[in-house]
Amino acid sequence: MRKIVIAIDGYSACGKSSTAKEVANLLGYSYIDSGAMYRAVTLYFHQNHITIDNPKEVAKAIENINISFIFNERKAYSETYLNGLNVEEEIRKMYISNQVSKVSSISEVRKNMVSQQRKLGKKKGVVMDGRDIGSNVFPNAELKIFMKADLAIRAERRQNELLEKNQLVPIPEIEENLLARDKMDSERKENPLIIPDDAYILDTSELTLPEQVEYVLQLATEKMIKY
Ligand code: DC
Repeated sequence: MRKIVIAIDGYSACGKSSTAKEVANLLGYSYIDSGAMYRAVTLYFHQNHITIDNPKEVAKAIENINISFIFNERKAYSETYLNGLNVEEEIRKMYISNQVSKVSSISEVRKNMVSQQRKLGKKKGVVMDGRDIGSNVFPNAELKIFMKADLAIRAERRQNELLEKNQLVPIPEIEENLLARDKMDSERKENPLIIPDDAYILDTSELTLPEQVEYVLQLATEKMIKY
């Protein structure tokens, strides 16, 4: 069967990453979390006090950022490294979630990340999740999924994820962050979050993770036979 590109886009905290990781593991594909790349840039800007309104400063800073993913055998997923340091835990914290949509709307940042993402998916056999993967990064992806879910469910799932990392964040704070990010991601000028015409829409409000994975795997198998 041919290797394909699977693009999984959608609103924040709909289960994109958990689904994408599992699908990639089961197919023997690589998994790329494009959101983690924007989060790593946000962390770098934060640590280095970059003035994000200054395009020249941003363009210069971007040149010093190296993002990589290294597979953690024990956890069975790839972790994010920023200039050689494991930042997987740090980039999931709320102070990063609160700044990341602003950073990801900067043109210099998007150009750089999109070009890296295209390189990572060039050989196919990749599952990539994000906001503009099917619409912009890989407009010819063989399979495009767009995920959505009710806000209350998304907030509860995100709270549980944070609790597992010993971070207790109240539901209203999480809901506020999710809504603000959805709005910024959908309304930004460059590569906004949109539903591609040829995407399969998956509402995960009532679904378990295995059901979501099964849905994507079924479609992936059809596409792998077809292409
Ligand atoms: O998937 P995530 O919640 O970790 O993504 C963090 C932010 O990064 C999200 O709010 C918007 C931005 N992002 C983006 O602009 N384009 C992508 N392809 C992926 C994420």
